Amino acid sequence: KQYKVAVVGATGAVGEVMLSVLAERKFPASEVVALASERSAGVEVAFGDDEVTVRDLATFDPAGVDIALFSAGGDISKEYAPKFAAAGAVVIDNSSAFRMDPDVPLVVSEVNPEAVKQRPRGIIANPNCSTMQLMVALAPIHRAAGIERINVATYQSVSGTGRRALEELGRQTAGLLNFRSVESEVYPVQIAFNVIPHGGDFDDNGYTSEEMKLVHETRRILGDDAIRVNATVVRVPVFYGHSEAVNIETRDKLGAAGARRLLEAAPGVEVVDERAAGGYPTPVTHASGKDAVYVGRIRDDLSHERGLNLWVVADNIRKGAALNAVQIAELVVAEG
Ligand code: A2P
Repeated sequence: KQYKVAVVGATGAVGEVMLSVLAERKFPASEVVALASERSAGVEVAFGDDEVTVRDLATFDPAGVDIALFSAGGDISKEYAPKFAAAGAVVIDNSSAFRMDPDVPLVVSEVNPEAVKQRPRGIIANPNCSTMQLMVALAPIHRAAGIERINVATYQSVSGTGRRALEELGRQTAGLLNFRSVESEVYPVQIAFNVIPHGGDFDDNGYTSEEMKLVHETRRILGDDAIRVNATVVRVPVFYGHSEAVNIETRDKLGAAGARRLLEAAPGVEVVDERAAGGYPTPVTHASGKDAVYVGRIRDDLSHERGLNLWVVADNIRKGAALNAVQIAELVVAEG
């Protein structure tokens, strides 16, 4: 069977890669429809070696669409995902709009693929990019040794904020190297040559929404509300690839060697851990443009009997968003 696939947000940083991943993986599509705002209607976007013409989401009739991949922001998902689902499509949504809805499964393809089957609203949610790579690395450890607490600091690239943020980092970097002053439009302060301890909006508890996503989404995906998560989200001047310094405390003692063995066998994970200069993953040397979640710096926590440290890097646009959405679509297709 061939499927009619819609990509909503096709001109965006994630939508562009959704189209290329669909083509790369030879997704069984009879037709691919690219949708964005009316501003982009008529623009051509790449689909493998072909091009497709972008259409205006607002006037598009979803009847006949089998699978719709959404990445145009939460407000667009809230308005249009239920309409596509009502028209018979399975919606795979990359926004945060439905991630905590008990009637919408939140799925990492390597971790809880079986959850796609329970989708009473016809919508499946793709996790936040930082949660995504963390779950691919931690789920095998959780199953083997029981994770009680996670302490994570992220080093997130600007592509997670969208295309305008990529442009802002490029513009500011070029400007500063030419001794010009720069303006910030997307981020509240200069991002070039800087780090910003702020992702999303501030909650009353002092954490940011990006930090609280790591808390709530981790518990949902691992199916364990007892896991304690402490997160600090930081934006860094990297174009593609999020990094995470992760400290975990397990119920059973695992040890660095045990963790390395588990991770070497884990689906979607590549261990890069040579304990020498360059023998660890970075966004530029390993993750950017790649599918895997890279794990290095695996070591025992000298301050805690059952503590472990890891360094986790992945392309936030691929595994963190577009690739996982397409993998979910493949799981739906596999149902027949
Ligand atoms: P457009 O390019 O027409 O504005 P990013 O996350 O990289 O900023 O991309 C956001 C995506 O969401 C883009 O494809 C953008 O399309 C799309 N989008 C934004 N607003 C709307 C809207 N009102 N209707 C449809 N698509 C939208």
